[in-house]
Amino acid sequence: MKSLLLFSLGSLFLTLMGISSATLSPAGINYEVVALMAIKSDLNDPYHVLENWDSNSVDPCSWRMVTCSPDGYVFSLGLPSQSLSGTLSPLIGNLSELQSVLLQNNAISGPIPATIGKLEKLHTLDLSNNTFHGEIPTSLGDLKNLNYLRLNNNSLTGACPDSLSKLEVSLLWTCLIIILVVPCRKYQQRLSKLLVTL
Ligand SMILES: *[C@@H]1O[C@H](CO)[C@@H](O)[C@H](O)[C@H]1NC(C)=O
Ligand SMILES: *[C@@H]1O[C@H](CO)[C@@H](O)[C@H](O)[C@H]1NC(C)=O
Ligand SMILES: *[C@@H]1O[C@H](CO)[C@@H](O)[C@H](O)[C@H]1NC(C)=O
Repeated sequence: MKSLLLFSLGSLFLTLMGISSATLSPAGINYEVVALMAIKSDLNDPYHVLENWDSNSVDPCSWRMVTCSPDGYVFSLGLPSQSLSGTLSPLIGNLSELQSVLLQNNAISGPIPATIGKLEKLHTLDLSNNTFHGEIPTSLGDLKNLNYLRLNNNSLTGACPDSLSKLEVSLLWTCLIIILVVPCRKYQQRLSKLLVTL
């Protein structure tokens, strides 16, 4: 009886350990903290909104503008209208549970990181009204769950990636793209009805 109890306590302990170390590497490094610190260091943050983002934290769930899922993974990043400039770190692609990224109305420049295409659960991405330049990464076409995307009012150039046409299910976001890049015109007709939602 006693050994059974010990066994149960033991497994409970192991289970709890498993939960709390969900995002930890064997060396105890939280990859999400590393990724968020990289994002912070590539941004200029004149009003110190990212001040409590601290590399010594065990997890980032109490940081401003960061929201975690119940099991402790970062699932949203909301930093609209915070006067941020600088660039967006490609390590954003390491926040593997991210569902929502809101960075609109800042002055972030540089390319849109292609690593965003690794964020399989992403459903909302708003990078509008920044100064991103370069091409729209084709990897965005891999985002099967994306249903809201705004990239308008940036300095994006180049062709509208064909991969985006795979996302026909998520019509809303494709129509939002149109506003920003002329080469996306071929989608315009099909989507013009949706433009009213803007
Ligand atoms: C990104 O995450 C992977 C594990 O998912 C890890 O192997 C890699 O080192 C991380 N990159 C950085 C720079 O933290
Ligand atoms: C675009 O962002 C700037 C700040 O960079 C802000 O002043 C302006 O109001 C924003 N435009 C819209 C339409 O939100
Ligand atoms: C577009 O971006 C420029 C430069 O950031 C800004 O001045 C302008 O207000 C923005 N326009 C809209 C419609 O947001």
